[in-house]
Amino acid sequence: MSGAGPASPATVRVIREIPELRRHVDAARQAGARVGFVPTMGALHDGHLSLMRRARAECELVVVSIFVNPAQFNDARDFERYPRDEARDVELAATAGVDVVFAPDAGAIYPPGFATSVSVDGVSVPLEGAYRGAEHFRGVATVVTKLFNIVAPHVAYFGQKDAQQALVIRRMVRDLDFPVTIEVCPTVRERDGLAMSSRNVRLEGSDRARALALKAGLDAAAAAVADGVRDPRNVVARATTAMRAHGVEPEYVAAVDAATLAEPETLRGETLVAIAAAVGPVRLIDNCLLDVPA
Ligand code: PAF
Repeated sequence: MSGAGPASPATVRVIREIPELRRHVDAARQAGARVGFVPTMGALHDGHLSLMRRARAECELVVVSIFVNPAQFNDARDFERYPRDEARDVELAATAGVDVVFAPDAGAIYPPGFATSVSVDGVSVPLEGAYRGAEHFRGVATVVTKLFNIVAPHVAYFGQKDAQQALVIRRMVRDLDFPVTIEVCPTVRERDGLAMSSRNVRLEGSDRARALALKAGLDAAAAAVADGVRDPRNVVARATTAMRAHGVEPEYVAAVDAATLAEPETLRGETLVAIAAAVGPVRLIDNCLLDVPA
C-alpha cells in the first residue's frame, strides 16, 4: 500500500452494502493500510472536509459515511428538513481525497426487528442531552457503534464543534474497548466567526447575521474569564447578555469542566463554554475551550 496522499476525484467509490464495504476495507487492512473514518450525515461543509483532509494525511484508506440517522433526531421535522444532496457530497469528498463513501440505506443500518441500543451515562446527560432528550445521544452512540463495527477503522475523526458528542464517543470507546483511536479536530468557522454547520444553509434573511450571537456569546465568556471572572454564573451572564444584544435568546449557556461537563463552584483548568440557541427555525450549537488559570 503506498503512502497517504490526495486521491484523484475519479477514484472515490460509493458503496451502499455492508458486505461490500467490509470486503473493501479488509483487503486494504490486509495490505497494511491504516484505515481512517469520518462519520457524517452529509450536507458536507469545510468542517467535514477538514476532518477528511486530516484522515487523508494520516491514513492510507479514507472512508466517509453519509447517513442521516433518524434515531438521533428528537424532532421529526428537523429530520425531514435535514439537507440532503448525495451527488454534491460525493464530489466534495472526492476533492478531499476520500477513497470510499459508504452511503447505506436506512434498512441496512436498521433492519426489521432492530432492537438494540447503546446508551452512555454521565457526559450524555446535561446540555444537549437535557434539551434534546436521552434518545439523541443514544441514537448517536448506537449508529456510531454500528459504523465502527462495519468500517473497523484504526482512527475516527470528529469535530470539536460537537464537543459533547466527542466526549460521549470517547467514553463509549473507552468503556466498550473499541480498537479505534478518536481524534477530535478544531471547529472550522466562516470568515465572520459563524461555526460551520450543515444547518447554516437554512439560515435566511436577518437570521444569518443574528446567528453570530453564538460566537459573540463565546467571545464574551472568554473576555469575562480574561477579566478574572471565575464564578461560572457570572461568565454565563456575560455570554447571555452578548447574545441578547444580537436578538438571540440562548437555550442554554454553560461554563463547565471540559472533561466531565459538571459545573464547578469556581472555574479552573480546562473549561468548556457551550451554547445552544434557536435562530429563526434553525437550532445552532457552538462552544470554545478555555484554559482557566487558578
Ligand atoms: O456528527 C454527526 O454528523 C452525527 O452525529 C454522526 C456522528 C455522523 C452520527 O450520526
